[in-house]
Amino acid sequence: MTSLEAIKYVRGELQVLDQLKLPHEFVYDNVSTCEEAFDCIKSMRVRGAPAIAIVAALALAVELEHKKDGTTQKLDTIKYINSKLDYLMLSRPTAVDLSNAIKLLKKKSADTAANSLTPDQTLACADIRLSYIEGAEKILEDDLTTNLAIGRYGAEYLRRQQVAIHTPVANADSLRYFTTSPPGTQGAPDQTYRKLSVLTHCNTGSLATSGHGTALGIIRSLHKMNYLDTAFCTETRPYNQGSRLTAFELVFENIPSTLITDSMAGALFARRKEEKNISAVIVGADRVARNGDTANKIGTYSLAVLAKHHGIKFVVAAPTTSIDLYTESGASIKIEDRTGTELTQISGAVVGKLDGKVDVNHTERVAIADQQINVWNPSFDVTPRELIDAIITEKGEVVRSSKGTFNFKGLMPQRW
Ligand code: MRU
Repeated sequence: MTSLEAIKYVRGELQVLDQLKLPHEFVYDNVSTCEEAFDCIKSMRVRGAPAIAIVAALALAVELEHKKDGTTQKLDTIKYINSKLDYLMLSRPTAVDLSNAIKLLKKKSADTAANSLTPDQTLACADIRLSYIEGAEKILEDDLTTNLAIGRYGAEYLRRQQVAIHTPVANADSLRYFTTSPPGTQGAPDQTYRKLSVLTHCNTGSLATSGHGTALGIIRSLHKMNYLDTAFCTETRPYNQGSRLTAFELVFENIPSTLITDSMAGALFARRKEEKNISAVIVGADRVARNGDTANKIGTYSLAVLAKHHGIKFVVAAPTTSIDLYTESGASIKIEDRTGTELTQISGAVVGKLDGKVDVNHTERVAIADQQINVWNPSFDVTPRELIDAIITEKGEVVRSSKGTFNFKGLMPQRW
């Protein structure tokens, strides 16, 4: 295996990596119905805003490929598609990617039905099914292209924040420095910079997308361009997407990385900012409101406050499909509350007492708090725009203006 794939798809067949079993076991589940996709998303076997949208869209594509809708009239095919999409919409409420994908696919199916002039209803139903399937497949393909672009734009944005070392460092230690001539300065002498470190939260990598990732995609690109010193990742309580998934991705790709608990971020900035050249906190997004307020994994807001205090850039990596121009500000974003057992219990594989090896055949769910305690478990929080320096999209970066605003005009595809 050369790269991690959360979603494997060929027309008519969808397989989803069970992320609840990671990092101990690598098991793909077949998803052949919308009900299975709903369960997969709700139970967080697949998670991450883009991956949720892709799995929902493709599950219905698989149903339609196998003609599970059983319809023979085009209006019934449209009704079937709409009702399945409305059902999938209820799986998780905060990420906007799912609702954007659903709007797009409903419109595509309705347009095909309206434009299909054939009097043969069987043929018209087949046209609608194919148009839906192609639309869902395009969402999968576009996501990878989008992430690669976010990675490039993000890495270049962060490099531009670095100050060149004008006195050339003799035989610059390649572990701590990189040398490059900035884009658009052909013929100019190369500049030497210190490599930079970043902190990321939750999991925004290949496991949360169709590949490469958003915030973790920027880290991958930084590493590939030789700009990266260290990627710090938080554990991301309560569900541990950082320690279970991001740490796994970073180790898998040999990216220099260090895991911390969420509560160590302040100490990291206070004690190691200069030593490691910690230049940014980079996170993903579940929904960016029109004014730039951003909902993301619980704990993101606290990191933004800490970053501000320590003069560290706070950067959101978000495909335009995560931007919601219909939601004015973060105050209107619905935040998903999840079950208390995510805090009071934890899953893990047993570590052998003598040899210290992880025994994947012995995974257990363990209580780590009094099971009677009341729990508040919001899955996401909202970071106000004044704490965000830049939002990196596949079309480039949107930087907070001197007036404190974000302007997404001209950036959004006219797709819905
Ligand atoms: O609850 P999760 O694991 O689905 O939350 C994921 C996040 O908050 C991610 O940061 C976000 O969805 C962006 S993934 C590219």
